[in-house]
Amino acid sequence: MKRIAVALGAALALVLAGPALAQAPIVVKFSHVVAPDTPKGKGSLKFKELAEKYTNGRVVVEVYPNSQLYKDNEELQALQLGAVQLLAPSLAKFGPLGVKEFEVFDLPFILPSKDALRRVTEGPLGRKLMGLLEPKGIKGLAYWDNGFKDMSANKPLRLPEDFKGLKMRIQSSKVLEAQMRALGAIPQVMAFSEVYQALATGVVDGTENPPSNEYTQKMHEVQKYTMLSEHGYVGYAVIANKRFWDGLPADIRAGLEKAMAEATKFSNDIAQSENDEALAAIKASGKSQVLALTPEQKAAWRKALDPVYTEMVARVGKDILAEFEKEVKGVSQ
Ligand code: LMR
Repeated sequence: MKRIAVALGAALALVLAGPALAQAPIVVKFSHVVAPDTPKGKGSLKFKELAEKYTNGRVVVEVYPNSQLYKDNEELQALQLGAVQLLAPSLAKFGPLGVKEFEVFDLPFILPSKDALRRVTEGPLGRKLMGLLEPKGIKGLAYWDNGFKDMSANKPLRLPEDFKGLKMRIQSSKVLEAQMRALGAIPQVMAFSEVYQALATGVVDGTENPPSNEYTQKMHEVQKYTMLSEHGYVGYAVIANKRFWDGLPADIRAGLEKAMAEATKFSNDIAQSENDEALAAIKASGKSQVLALTPEQKAAWRKALDPVYTEMVARVGKDILAEFEKEVKGVSQ
């Protein structure tokens, strides 16, 4: 009798627990290397909020900022292995994966404005570049914006000759390597999470960042000068493990796609103000002197950096560069 009661009790518990067991939430790990109070940091939290809302809690998004889970040179492999489901690496970090075409975004002064950027990222070239990730088991979901880069160092960098012999930290991009060499500097590829320490100890002399990264990583505290050069751009490709994404139930994927579209708009809408506020905070800190370039100085930078286009056209692809420049001008093919 007692055994039946136990069995019935167990059966009842199972009946009650069944649906709950069957509906264990799908966990989405979203790893990235920047601070939470940045365009990407806030965008990833917005995605979490919306993804959990639009799937009625059937998805739980765990956001890991500041390289907590994986550093730059580990995260793409972790995604391919399915150890994480979502990343948003900089467009400058796909070369090591063999998708060097994304480095077209790293060419100096190639983007005159955010409007030009949108024409590329929301146009046929943007889609084509994301398509290059599919054979790597990666699904491209969206382009998130950060902003234009400034150079920083412990001496003013007004003219190309001021870079001579400086060790400058860069992301893992051959185009950025060529950029620093063209300025007479020594490029040093380094994971983002290691840059502050390397600057503080003099392992490198300077680097380049949008203000939101310079400020939130406290790099301005160990860089006496910040040059308002806007010589290049940092943006992101939000990507998923393709097998994970394609394997999602259709209604869940629809909810996540809606969340991604809205988080993308949110992140891109706040990017400029996040960088403006960070630049104001750098100025207010008095720790790093913020210097603008004169038109003559900027022209000298452009002249010194022009050869990077000829040197790197074969790497990024002649057609990719031509299409990029046409979309920037608003005259797509
Ligand atoms: C960098 O490494 O400088 C940036 O790509 C970091 C980031 O994700 O903004």
